[in-house]
Amino acid sequence: MSVCALTAAGFYLKVHSTTAALLYLIVIVLVALRTGAAPSAVTALLAYIGLDSFFTAPLFRPAMNQPLDVVAPIVFLTTAFTINRLAAKNRQSFQEIQSLQDQLRLVMDTIPGLVWSESPNGSVEFLNQRWRDFLGASSAPVTDLRRNLPVHPAEADALAEQWQQARERGRAFETEVRVRRADGVYRRLRLHVVPAGEPGQVVKWYGLGTDIEDWRQAEETLARVESELALVARRTLLGELAASIAHEINQPLAAIVTNGNACLRWLGATPPNLPEARTTVTAIIRDGNRAAEIIARIRAMLSRTELKKATFDLGAALVEVLSLIRNDLVRKGITIHTRLASDLPAVFGDRVQCQQVVLNLLVNAVEALLPVTERWREIWLSAEPYGDGQVLVTVEDNGVGLGEAHEADIFDAFYTTKPDGMGLGLAISRSIIENHGGRLWCVAGDGFGAKFQFTLLTEGHAG
Ligand SMILES: Nc1ncnc2c1ncn2[C@@H]1O[C@H](COP(=O)(O)OP(=O)(O)O)[C@@H](O)[C@H]1O
Ligand SMILES: [Mg+2]
Repeated sequence: MSVCALTAAGFYLKVHSTTAALLYLIVIVLVALRTGAAPSAVTALLAYIGLDSFFTAPLFRPAMNQPLDVVAPIVFLTTAFTINRLAAKNRQSFQEIQSLQDQLRLVMDTIPGLVWSESPNGSVEFLNQRWRDFLGASSAPVTDLRRNLPVHPAEADALAEQWQQARERGRAFETEVRVRRADGVYRRLRLHVVPAGEPGQVVKWYGLGTDIEDWRQAEETLARVESELALVARRTLLGELAASIAHEINQPLAAIVTNGNACLRWLGATPPNLPEARTTVTAIIRDGNRAAEIIARIRAMLSRTELKKATFDLGAALVEVLSLIRNDLVRKGITIHTRLASDLPAVFGDRVQCQQVVLNLLVNAVEALLPVTERWREIWLSAEPYGDGQVLVTVEDNGVGLGEAHEADIFDAFYTTKPDGMGLGLAISRSIIENHGGRLWCVAGDGFGAKFQFTLLTEGHAG
């Protein structure tokens, strides 16, 4: 088509003006050189020369002294042949480009990601099918992602800022934002935007978005299940313990009450039956001692449960505990500040039991923070070298504080101020720490909250 049109135009111009025809030739050659559209331009040029030589008074006479009717058919045939070859080649490369383009588009549209490209001024040049479906872009075509992207209001400013900075510096950036899908649901996307071109001379931006909502949800569910499991495990352990304690202690207590009543009756008789009363009181004392023995046995059992003492990295153990409850803290809007001394020595003891102590203290801190609404909920956890051959661990919170409770009471077994508390956390923690040759104590917080501290022996100082 273009060959015919150019040829016709050339022919028309030549008939009307020789100068214009010359200019036309020059333009064709220049355009061909400039745009690289060589085959079709050369085709047009040859077609034009062919016509010119054969049908009309020639502009250029290839050989002035040759008879025209010999030269003309040769030029014509050569021209026709060349035109044919060039046109075929042209058509072939055009088809190749077309099929390459189709393939590329297919890849772009089926790739499991949101792909786009945009010019340096931000106007969208290409959005793959998935992106268009995600945005519902058929109803209102997206022209500028930086402005039109329905980002969650809480994250819009941060994204705009990041985008602006990337644009100014011509640098790639990666971010995570929630974007509203066509059905109105916000999905968490991971966006990765890279510039193309020389540094400082961006000619295009390419972007890839990945929908990570499901993945994130699964991750959160897993973390929740994990921390719930840890809690359930603790609860069941303590629950079973409490049930068996109650059962064992109930018997002597019931006997004490029965004997107490009998004793009252012996004393109330006229005259009072003192020998019988003495017997029942003896029984009461015996049962009381039995109950005390049971409690002593349980405490001993709690503090002796198979210690597996070894040298361990306290910092790493604390980080592990934090990872267990981090999600819980985030959900409850609690910020935790951790400060682990860089010269923290390795400690000696049962790693899991020491972690249990920290977990107990952190759980108490969290519970003390829940009623707090008028200030930030904060916990400070630190570990540092202490005295000669010891390490000091501190868990402090700005929660409701100890209030009426006294330090002497809170470490007692079964002392609790919580409706569903067991009152065993601090008692168990203290016996664990004492079993490790350390101490656990509480410091009244200045202002709000409470501060619990304990020591552990470092490697080489443990007896
Ligand atoms: N961080 C804290 N802030 C305020 N009170 C606390 C804190 N830690 C412990 N307590 C008090 O000590 C009591 C005993 O704690 P604990 O032995 O862990 O048992 P529980 O947590 O089951 O009540 C709690 O009921 C509470 O009154
Ligand atoms: Mg507790």
